[in-house]
Order: sequence, then structure tokens, then C-alpha cells
Amino acid sequence: MPSPSASIPTHVAIIMDGNGRWAKQRGLPRIEGHRRGVDTVRTIINASRELGIRYITLYAFSVENWKRPQDEVGALMGLLEYFLKKELANLVKDKVRLLTIGRTQEMPENVRTLLQKAVEATSSFTGHTLVLALNYGARTEMVDAARAYAQAVAAGEVKLNDSSWETFSRYLNTADIPDPDLVIRTSGEMRISNFLLLQAAYAEFVFTPVLWPDFTKADLAAAVETYAKRERRFGLTSEQLKPAAT
Ligand code: IPE
Ligand code: IPE
Ligand code: MG
Repeated sequence: MPSPSASIPTHVAIIMDGNGRWAKQRGLPRIEGHRRGVDTVRTIINASRELGIRYITLYAFSVENWKRPQDEVGALMGLLEYFLKKELANLVKDKVRLLTIGRTQEMPENVRTLLQKAVEATSSFTGHTLVLALNYGARTEMVDAARAYAQAVAAGEVKLNDSSWETFSRYLNTADIPDPDLVIRTSGEMRISNFLLLQAAYAEFVFTPVLWPDFTKADLAAAVETYAKRERRFGLTSEQLKPAAT
């Protein structure tokens, strides 16, 4: 469990929302908002590194997002391809490891190939990790984990009686990633939209009205400052967390 007093969160997870509204406000097509959103992704990857955040997870595409109009889905896949091609050199230069969560095996083949290449090329870096949530949904993740866990039990690799959060959570996509300390959602919506439901059990939440294309390093720093003022109690009392009175 992370230290309650740590002022810089180890892991920040972001629901990047508001690209469509940003474009609409300017009379532009939604895809223009997504394009500007990619610029923000770059800015925020760098900013999180500079702020000393070790893990950043970006919710880039949900399992539900496939139901959007086909041309928007196609454009989003195109942007992802463009981002991965362009960003790999920077990730290597900045020593940022790339990981993914979500059913990436269902992503288009060209995206899968680029992802695999980037994950392999950055696998030795340990300082900073960028996690892209792609075709991610907490419920599908849960179902996949339950299936894998049942198979492990059937194969005798796990004893049912030894079941615990520690043993089960090894089967989630996030097995090697610490739980998020801070979850940020942009665009003013106050919902979790199937993102990291189990992992965010004790995360702090910061909601900001800023639309994702307008989100800056200063906005990220402000969210971290808000986080630093919160008291994370993990079920204990405030008194238990304070050093014993002398
Ligand atoms: C977030 O922006 C990007 C994705 C979900 C892929 P939206 O496209 O959801 O923007 P709004 O919510 O319509 O403004
Ligand atoms: C959540 O945003 C998914 C991503 C940011 C990728 P949505 O825009 O899809 O969520 P809802 O539909 O407003 O809940
Ligand atoms: Mg949205």
C-alpha cells in the first residue's frame, strides 16, 4: 500500500475526455478534437515524467467506443497508428517503458504490430511507465481474469482455498502495475466509464471541467497538488495515520 503522505502519486490514471466537445465548440469535425488530443497526450507524457510520476495510464479507447460512427473509429485507429510511429523514438530517448491494458488482440493488425514493436523496444526501462488502455473495459478485464483464474484452478496451478485478492489480481491486465493513486477525468463528466473499477478501489479522484485538448502541464500539476492535500485513510481513522502523540 502506498504511503498516505506521499505527495507525488506513483500512478496517475487519466480518463481523457472532451475531444468531441472541444471540436464542436469551434465548429470543427470531432476528429480535429482527437487530433489536438494527441498533442495533449505528448505534453502530458512529458509533464508526468518531469513531475516525477512513475506510472501514467491513459484511457485511449474503451470497449464501448467501437459503437461510435465507423468513420470516427477509423480515424481514431489512424491517429493511434500515427502516434505510435512518431512517438517510439521519443519513448526510447526518454527511457519510458510502454505497456498496454485491454484486449489489444482485437485491435487492427497494423496497430498491434506497432504496439508490439514499441513494447519490446522499451521493455528494459524501469524509471517511467506509460500504460495505454486500448479496447479496455473493466468488466471485460474482470471476465477475462475470472476465466484465466478458473483455468489455473482446473490445471491445479492455484488452489481454490488459497483465493485472495493477491492471487486473483495476478490475472488482471494490470498484474505488474501498481494501483492508481490518482484518477483524473477531464471535460466535467463525473463518472468512471468502465475504467479500472477494481484497481481504483482506493484511488483519489480529481474531476476538472477542462476539455482534454486544453489540458496542460499546469492542470496536471494542480491535480497532483489537490491529491497531496487529501488524506488517504484506507479504512483507518485519521488518528491512526498520524504519528503517535508524545
Ligand atoms: C475522448 O473524447 C476520446 C475518446 C473517448 C476516444 P470524446 O470523443 O469522448 O469527447 P466528447 O466526450 O464527445 O466531448
Ligand atoms: C471514456 O470516455 C473513454 C475514454 C476516454 C477512452 P467516453 O466519452 O467514451 O465515456 P462516456 O461515454 O462519456 O461515459
Ligand atoms: Mg466523451
